[in-house]
Amino acid sequence: MRMVDIIEKKRNRQELTTEEINFFIKGYTDGTIPDYQASALLMAIYFQNMNDRERADLTMAMVESGDKINLSKINGIKVDKHSTGGVGDTTTLVLGPLVAAVGVPVAKMSGRGLGHTGGTIDKLESITGFHVEISTEEFIKLVNENKIAVVGQSGNLTPADKKLYALRDVTATVNSIPLIASSIMSKKIAAGADAIVLDVKTGAGAFMKTIQDAEELARAMVQIGNKVGRETMAIISDMSQPLGYAIGNSLEVKEAIDTLKGHGPKDLTELCLTLGSQMVYLSKQAKTIDDARKMLEEVITNGKALDKFKQFIASQGGDPSIVDDPEKLPKANYVVELPAQQTGWIEEIVADEIGTAAMILGAGRLTKESMIDLAVGIVLHKKVGDKVEKGDSLLTIHANKENIEEVKTLLYNNIKISPNEITQPPLIHEIIGE
Ligand code: URA
Ligand code: CA
Repeated sequence: MRMVDIIEKKRNRQELTTEEINFFIKGYTDGTIPDYQASALLMAIYFQNMNDRERADLTMAMVESGDKINLSKINGIKVDKHSTGGVGDTTTLVLGPLVAAVGVPVAKMSGRGLGHTGGTIDKLESITGFHVEISTEEFIKLVNENKIAVVGQSGNLTPADKKLYALRDVTATVNSIPLIASSIMSKKIAAGADAIVLDVKTGAGAFMKTIQDAEELARAMVQIGNKVGRETMAIISDMSQPLGYAIGNSLEVKEAIDTLKGHGPKDLTELCLTLGSQMVYLSKQAKTIDDARKMLEEVITNGKALDKFKQFIASQGGDPSIVDDPEKLPKANYVVELPAQQTGWIEEIVADEIGTAAMILGAGRLTKESMIDLAVGIVLHKKVGDKVEKGDSLLTIHANKENIEEVKTLLYNNIKISPNEITQPPLIHEIIGE
């Protein structure tokens, strides 16, 4: 088999065989196929697309390129959730204990990553003592006993994806549905998921800016999952404004606690119930999505979800008393309100720019080496559609530096107030795969 023939075939819009896709992924991973040939094939795929079968084959070839996490010793159907990423997305912190409380095994492997705030692990590390450096045996034991544990990333998962993603980044081939869908799905499958729930975000703070693009990506991923034997569902959710109120690490832990207590932000609560119902259903803990939702509402009301969060924290070395006393979480030195400069209705809170403001405060990492400040961030008091009077606080800034003029300007420039009434945007645009 020759790489040049594979490139030519795809260039001419022909379908690649399973063997050809495996040859490419194996050869590129071990270095026998050079970057220039891989680049040419990526560009051919970008223009000529791939059918469902090719996409599934590409996904599984990438899964097979490295280590795979074996969760077979964990009882039950392991359902993983993936979000395409947004600003102030506190869902993982809420969903874990929420679905574990009704019996879904949550075996979460998580990273730190770059972004406006830290990743799930950084957020959890704002709880004194909490750690994710646990052995595989301990991890499996905890999930079997408590239904939930989080471990830091280890092993060499999907090296083909790492190498290809870096190459796509410099060859203008990131934005391709078959390439994005196979990249995301390969990582979830290699991490051991039996079933997958996807939250594909759309809007200013999202990777996919339009609903049409988000829908195409979601459908592509659901098709791949179902083709390779991992039941998959997806929702398209709004990320034009940040999710919930809090953006920042310890601030989001507090928001997650509020949500598990049943008085969290309306949008975050709804998103967690929607995604959570799908997870419970796919894990076969409920017969219908509606039944699943009722079970989740019940564990919020009767306190079992909150108890599960406490148990989870304690079992990984954390101080569970922060759940009853969130004041113990890291706190910033300066707490500053941002007053509205006019009366009206909130028209826009541009998610990615608000995220950038949180990052400038120190809530996120610009490079892998950056230190993150767990205490800082932003807590919104208004969301799109809310009425405001001049002088009302739009949000609270939690900072550890005195001079935050740059942040205030950025925030003012990205919160638009209209003199006319504004309707709230829908949170969930679509559900795919029911
Ligand atoms: N996120 C991924 O993991 N892969 C892509 O290709 C794009 C976004
Ligand atoms: Ca939030």
